[in-house]
Amino acid sequence: MNKSHGELLGTAEWAAFLHEEVLPVVTHGVDLGDTMLEIGPGPGAATEWLRHRVGRLVALELEPEAAAALGTRFAGTNVEAVAGDATALPYPDGYFDAVGMFTMLHHVPTRALQDAILAGALRALRPGGTLIGSDSLSSDRLHQFHEGDVYNPVEPAAFLTRLQTIGFTDIMFVVGHTLLFRARKAEADAAA
Ligand SMILES: C[S@@+](CC[C@H](N)C(=O)[O-])C[C@H]1O[C@@H](n2cnc3c(N)ncnc32)[C@H](O)[C@@H]1O
Repeated sequence: MNKSHGELLGTAEWAAFLHEEVLPVVTHGVDLGDTMLEIGPGPGAATEWLRHRVGRLVALELEPEAAAALGTRFAGTNVEAVAGDATALPYPDGYFDAVGMFTMLHHVPTRALQDAILAGALRALRPGGTLIGSDSLSSDRLHQFHEGDVYNPVEPAAFLTRLQTIGFTDIMFVVGHTLLFRARKAEADAAA
């Protein structure tokens, strides 16, 4: 991540945006359950909000330094910071009640790798479990902000179809100045 991007994610303004405009919308009316996975937590703005709503929160972060800083920030809490790559999730099938990913898909360099993350999230969710997420939408400003960085925003209409094709159901979608989404893994008997 480039410097200005990294700095933004640690600000009170960014945390307020996630806490007030993103997380309450994607979790509205949803019981996140006991065990949740957050993919790509960065400095942990969403982590701080989510950890009060679940029993245990595993935060899987690609960059080892960011994962270590997250471990320090949340030491002694219900957050387990892990360094690892969400394109190959190291958790058993059905392990999590909920999976979240915020502002991270556009940092995944190819559509195939984004789909691997989504398919892995589906596999690691229990039947009936919930996926929640958000991402920035394509714009000239966002492109400039990612100079020297990975910049691969999803296209909303295609993303909806991708979630369906991968196997998610009950998809909720908001396309405003940012993309908000929620989807479920079907109950075992409904999938049969
Ligand atoms: C723009 S930051 C967003 C951080 C945080 N979710 C937020 O919204 O404030 C994207 C994060 O996703 C992480 N990331 C990118 N690809 C990943 C992968 N394959 N597995 C786990 N984390 C990943 C990056 O290292 C970075 O910390």
